[in-house]
Amino acid sequence: MAVRLGDIAPDFTQDSTDGPIHFHDWIGNGWAILFSHPKDFTPVCTTELGAVAKLKPEFDKRNVKVIGLSVDPLPDHREWSKDIEETQGAKLNFPLLADADRRVSNLYDMIHPNANDTLTVRSVYVVGPDKKVKLTITYPASTGRNFEEILRVIDSLQLTSDYKVATPVNWQHGDDCIIVPAVSDAEADTAFPKGYRKVKPYLRITPQPNLP
Ligand code: BEZ
Repeated sequence: MAVRLGDIAPDFTQDSTDGPIHFHDWIGNGWAILFSHPKDFTPVCTTELGAVAKLKPEFDKRNVKVIGLSVDPLPDHREWSKDIEETQGAKLNFPLLADADRRVSNLYDMIHPNANDTLTVRSVYVVGPDKKVKLTITYPASTGRNFEEILRVIDSLQLTSDYKVATPVNWQHGDDCIIVPAVSDAEADTAFPKGYRKVKPYLRITPQPNLP
């Protein structure tokens, strides 16, 4: 069954390059991103895993743990990780699930038979500290993901979970935000001490509230 926003992320135990992972325990009290790869020793995945390894400090800063998945066994992962280091100049610094039995792929509906019977698509799940799914993205095998965009969404998810704001088109950390319609003007007057600009009754712009 499809995993939808707001669902509890399915829990699992599966082998990984860092040993067995009990997913919910491994997440702990922070955030997590789980992302799948069609197969080991594939070129696009190799570039993605190298890029994520380089971005790991950015995920750490946001208290987000990173975990990848590929439907191949652990010995293949270990061999492949040498190639990733050699070709991408970055060592795998997060666990990669060895999902040869497809336990996790099936749980998260990562195999789309009309796209490919055996390979997983490029799925991304962001999970919050409450273990609920906050974001899902699905890319085809032929298109590598943009992990800078995923960091941008995480910034928005974390901001909007703490403040009654939404983030507008192409928003980046530091840009102005939108006060959510459920907040009355009277409430906004006290909740947003930096003030806001009322462009329309439903479009109220305020500086990003968690910045000095
Ligand atoms: C890749 O990761 O390069 C890839 C995997 C499956 C199909 C196409 C490309």
